[in-house]
Amino acid sequence: MKIVAIVGSNRKNSFNMKLAQYMQRTYEGKLDIEILPITDLPFYNQEIELMPSETVQKFIGKVAQADAVLWVTPEYNYSIPGILKNAIDWLSRVDKVMVGKPSFIMGASMGALGTVRAQEHLRGILFSPGISSPLLPRNEVYIGAVHEKFDDAGQLVHEPTVAFLNIIVTNFISWYDQHTGAFVAKS
Ligand code: FNR
Repeated sequence: MKIVAIVGSNRKNSFNMKLAQYMQRTYEGKLDIEILPITDLPFYNQEIELMPSETVQKFIGKVAQADAVLWVTPEYNYSIPGILKNAIDWLSRVDKVMVGKPSFIMGASMGALGTVRAQEHLRGILFSPGISSPLLPRNEVYIGAVHEKFDDAGQLVHEPTVAFLNIIVTNFISWYDQHTGAFVAKS
């Protein structure tokens, strides 16, 4: 299964990027995960949506070709970071490449709640008409105290989280397989 991961942090040492890279390495063979850069996307502007830059076209094209999307988000001020919202806004227009495309969500923060509030917002956004992405139900991945769970080499060293992510991936693949062909096609 071809998956694109979209990470909502532009920080060099981002924990959410480490999480996405961990997913990419660990589940290679089960999931073919490509992490898409979003930091170079210009601000969405309706005036240029029909003639977007090459960067935007490439980004949208990669998402269009993927079977599913993995969203990995930090929490900024109880919501998702602006760069992630900007990427979603680009995806929500013109060809609406997310409509009917399945997704699952993860997020990591240093606080205790592990991006609960950001993910609430993200779920609402993904439910909007321009996105309409079927989301893996339940299986919520909130990784709190993330700075204690990754080592300096970017390895996830917290065994309960390692085991939990194994369950999430199994559940995602099984949910995806059960629904293949049933996800609503875009109109
Ligand atoms: C944060 N952080 C944060 N954490 C949280 O749990 N809830 C929040 O509302 C916020 N708000 C917030 C706003 C801004 C502007 C920054 C810079 C940070 C802390 C945040 O979770 C932490 O910096 C993470 O490490 C960010 O994710 P990455 O960049 O490591 O992936």
